[in-house]
Amino acid sequence: MQQVRKIIIDTDPGQDDAVAILLALASPELEVLGITAVAGNVPLGLTEKNARKICELAGRPDMKVHAGAGRPLVRDLVTAEHVHGKSGLDGPDLPEPEMPLMQAHAVDFIVETVMAHEPGTLTLCTLGPLTNIALALVREPRIAPRIGGIVMMGGGFFEGGNITPAAEFNIHVDPHAADVVFRSGVPIVMMPLDVTHKALATRARVDAFRELGTPVGLATAAMLSFSERFDKEKYGNEGGPLHDPCVIAYLLRPALFAGRTCNVSVETASELTMGMTVIDWWHVTKRPHNAQVMREIDDEGFFALLTERLGRL
Ligand code: BDR
Ligand code: CA
Repeated sequence: MQQVRKIIIDTDPGQDDAVAILLALASPELEVLGITAVAGNVPLGLTEKNARKICELAGRPDMKVHAGAGRPLVRDLVTAEHVHGKSGLDGPDLPEPEMPLMQAHAVDFIVETVMAHEPGTLTLCTLGPLTNIALALVREPRIAPRIGGIVMMGGGFFEGGNITPAAEFNIHVDPHAADVVFRSGVPIVMMPLDVTHKALATRARVDAFRELGTPVGLATAAMLSFSERFDKEKYGNEGGPLHDPCVIAYLLRPALFAGRTCNVSVETASELTMGMTVIDWWHVTKRPHNAQVMREIDDEGFFALLTERLGRL
């Protein structure tokens, strides 16, 4: 039997973040110790509220949700209402959450939780800008060797960027935080756009969520139909990319993904390419290998897993 893996989800919901959270909460292989919100897709006041809405939708009002950084380390916050709507979670009509926001700051929660666990036993799942994680690493450097790993949605290389021609949104919003994380020595598994642009929420796949007929299935279909509106126009394909659930799916079924270990460096100087993840895929430098960079996904297997798991909630 697979051991239950303890995770913290750091997130900026966002419809795809929401689906990732639902997937984690539906999966007995994972124990979600807490959810930490960060400013990203929308400002912090909305991302923390959206995280609580999703926990309640999943029937988990007991979940610890902590608010973290309200802006990136150095740069001004860039948000993505053009993708996610004004609330960040447009699409379904979800009630205002009743569960409380925890008092402790997300960065304190991350530091204290990592320090309280045996080294190597806790995984951080990052679905948004890396501000909270960088702050935690700076605030308490002793956490770096204790974190079992970071599985992140972020970056892109062969696919280019989605917020600028060169940069993916999560890394572009806080490139300085991403730089701290990639230099931290923590083992990283990276789900870049090169993977997530192959995980398309086609009409048939969205219908499958709707056909679950449950509040979770209906809300998921409504969320994905909303973000699709924008993605179709942008990418002109059969459905929008479902980015963040790839992180959780990796923990459940790593064999759904394939990639290689290499160096990832983050551009923090050039305005033109700010937040670009420079991936040494062909090992043309001697820079240290700091991430396992995924490039392939079994998209059929991924959506089958997702639909089956959301059906459990
Ligand atoms: C990432 O940016 C956000 O808009 C999504 O939630 C995802 O985490 C994709 O670039
Ligand atoms: Ca996100």
